Amino acid sequence: MQNTEKKQWGVLARDCAIEAGKLIKRMLEEPLEVMYKSSASDLVTSVDRAVEKFVINTVLGAYPDHGILGEEGLFTDDISGMDTIWVIDPIDGTTNFVHQKLNYCVSIAVYHKGEAQVGVVYDPTREELFYAEKGNGAFLNDEPLPKPRQMVMEELLLASSVIWNRRAMKSGLAANIQDLALRSRGMRVLGVAALELAYVAAGRLDAYISLSLNAWDYGAGKLLVEEAGGTITRLDGKEIPFGEKSSILAGNPHIYPKVLELLGTKRV
Ligand code: IPD
Ligand code: CA
Ligand code: CA
Repeated sequence: MQNTEKKQWGVLARDCAIEAGKLIKRMLEEPLEVMYKSSASDLVTSVDRAVEKFVINTVLGAYPDHGILGEEGLFTDDISGMDTIWVIDPIDGTTNFVHQKLNYCVSIAVYHKGEAQVGVVYDPTREELFYAEKGNGAFLNDEPLPKPRQMVMEELLLASSVIWNRRAMKSGLAANIQDLALRSRGMRVLGVAALELAYVAAGRLDAYISLSLNAWDYGAGKLLVEEAGGTITRLDGKEIPFGEKSSILAGNPHIYPKVLELLGTKRV
């Protein structure tokens, strides 16, 4: 795969995210159609589907032989034999989107032979576009993200919602995260995984802990963290397997080892 090809994917991914943001804002002028998926806390709206459809049509218009792995499953071809796969969360943070009409984002990543090449996380409300390209760095609205700062535990700003996860409460992992929070400067729950990863990349958060994220939740954010100089693995410190559900620990590299150690060996 050529560098120029990757650059072209990057241009298309950014254009798609910005156009998706415009589509979302237009659709927000009308009442939202909200539906339950598996439960009352698992929502989807007509906007999620419209955005996924828009991205699929745009990508296939340019690259008919690429595959798409999207949260709403609107691309139904078998992607297992395909080299290049676009991993899409049309709206990450749908609960925020429904309740707040902000604190959500569009996440688009391009994977080639199982490796992320391009990642875009776009926050239409704040017009912030986070962009990463494999080997070429990470950017916010075209400005390179700063290098991770030197830091100690007392300065840690942590994000996680795992403290009230039933399985984590039972296994003791939630207690370990509470202990971590007590040693830190503070803990936040943003409810939008892709943006939380982008914020780790940008140094707005120092660590992010999550269980069972899907490929579309972390697809773009993973590359952003890596290209910004951060560390991202599963909660056991192992590599995140391409395309699979995974736990996630992302962080500033100067604090990541300590956070991993304090998480302990209790898993869910
Ligand atoms: C969810 C959000 C949330 C995370 C959930 C995801 P959605 O994605 O990223 O922060 O904790 O695991 O499913 O449903 O809003 O796209
Ligand atoms: Ca999501
Ligand atoms: Ca979503």
